[in-house]
Amino acid sequence: MMSDHRYLVTSALPYSNGRLHVGHIAGAYLPADTYVRYLRANGREVRFVCGSDDNGVASLISARKEGRTVEELTAHYNARQAADFAGLGIAFDIYGGTHQPDCVELHNRISQDFFKSIFEKGHFVKKTTKQLYDEQADQFLPDRYVKGTCYHKKADGTPCNYDSAFGDQCEACGAAIDPMLLINPVSTITGTTPVPRETTHWYMQLSQFEGRLRQWLESKREASKGEPAWREAVLNFSLGQIKQGLPERAMTRDLDWGVPVPLDDPDAQGKVLYVWFDAPIGYVSFTARHCQQNDGDWQAFARWWKDPDCRIVHFIGEDNTVFHALTWPAMLMAEGSSQLPWQVVANAFLNIKFPGKEEEKISKSRGTAIWIEEYLKTFDPDPLRYYLTAIAPESQRTAFDVDDYVTRNNSELLNALGNFINRTLTFAVRYFEGKVPDAGQREAVDNEHLAAVAAQATKVAENIEAFRFKNALTELMALARAGNVYFDAKQPWKQRKDDMSACGTTINVCVQTVKALATLMAPFLPFSAAKTAVMLGLDVKGASGTDPCSRALAEVLPWSEATHELPAGHPLGESAILFKKLDAAELFGEK
Ligand code: MF3
Ligand code: ZN
Repeated sequence: MMSDHRYLVTSALPYSNGRLHVGHIAGAYLPADTYVRYLRANGREVRFVCGSDDNGVASLISARKEGRTVEELTAHYNARQAADFAGLGIAFDIYGGTHQPDCVELHNRISQDFFKSIFEKGHFVKKTTKQLYDEQADQFLPDRYVKGTCYHKKADGTPCNYDSAFGDQCEACGAAIDPMLLINPVSTITGTTPVPRETTHWYMQLSQFEGRLRQWLESKREASKGEPAWREAVLNFSLGQIKQGLPERAMTRDLDWGVPVPLDDPDAQGKVLYVWFDAPIGYVSFTARHCQQNDGDWQAFARWWKDPDCRIVHFIGEDNTVFHALTWPAMLMAEGSSQLPWQVVANAFLNIKFPGKEEEKISKSRGTAIWIEEYLKTFDPDPLRYYLTAIAPESQRTAFDVDDYVTRNNSELLNALGNFINRTLTFAVRYFEGKVPDAGQREAVDNEHLAAVAAQATKVAENIEAFRFKNALTELMALARAGNVYFDAKQPWKQRKDDMSACGTTINVCVQTVKALATLMAPFLPFSAAKTAVMLGLDVKGASGTDPCSRALAEVLPWSEATHELPAGHPLGESAILFKKLDAAELFGEK
């Protein structure tokens, strides 16, 4: 059972230099939204926080490419991302942005305070080193923007000599690269040869936190009362990194786009905080922004970030693990006044498989992405939510298989879930005047089915609480199937002719099952749950029947009442079709 805590749930901040595709959604957004909806249905107080990651060199370079200012670029993608999330029913309490006009002031202030506090506690070391400078672009080059010939030796002792090694890693021999050692380095921004130049930065010695981080991570291995264990992959990766020794990391950069370094030091001039330093602080500053809008006091963010009654849950893609399970907690330890994350839920990447093609990586440049914007032009959000949860890459890479998506939409959503709900409700409308029939004389088979409903509700809850969303959905679908099995076994279409009262018993039990299904599906399929609630004659306040508003749904379908029965005589609403049949051919034509 759920404990009494408040929850602050975050999803990784997307970079605001591009659009969102199905891989993003499966990784850090959909599971978070599902979890939040479940918490709300359980009466928990929750804030669900996200926004765009606007700072850093990636946005600058995209802006240059697209020929607009970085402010324009990030505002543009921030708005498009917000629309994508809304369209999918991913309902944040706030969608901010680290450099968006209504957030940047608080974000800079909180980030700078955070930096200063770590500085004052003596956790930074100031160092001057040589780094590669692009004289034409007039900037220091981030590692990823330098290419050159690899200087490593291969396993057989011969030189690697791969001529397109990146400044951080050689893709041919796999070794880590120090960009200063690359042979014939070239700036990928201008194509010119960069030159070494001295620069001064503030470094955090992450090794100082190894002991505390190890202890803290080890404590997350075992589940304990109401506290699920962390996913293996997150723990193994992070503990493995600690074993290798955590490096020193520069927390400042030579850039003019970002949060200015808040030090009264000539060496801090023209420098900003490293984007991976300020981005996670976005979680805090957006919470503060929401408090400012909501409670009129931005400092109320402390109620979420500094109070142990609140649990902080970060949902991320696997590539962000190092920053959320090591760097960010080390920053929090160094700063000292906030809580550490209670959970870091990481998902693996999603591949894609188009009909007649091999499974491949999602890639913008190769045109192998399914963009949310495109998807929503033609299709409903719930089938995508359903499929992305059904194939959730919770412990390993999985693939979005277009044929499989169609099959599962038609055979699971339509034929199992939708069919059960529709056959039940249309039957009641037709033969019981649109009202819940009298329960009549329930027999063993009826009571057994109702017991199975309650058991499934418990299983779905247990799985969501343990962050096993795929299993939770499987248990939900098992209930839909059980509903159909019961319906078929009871044959109400025959009972109607022989024994109207027995028929009423059957339909009464089926309606109760539909109510349970509506409650259990709300975190996963909010649009369809809202429609089902309306068909059940429940009043979804302020909702049109398709409104995914998570608070309204949580109110009309509280989890604890999933198996509270609708009384006989309760008037049902009008039935409508929940899911549409899809055809593979019309889907995602080659792009
Ligand atoms: N923008 C990063 C990415 O998409 C994620 C940032 S998460 C935060 O990989 F912690 F920094 F906010
Ligand atoms: Zn190499």
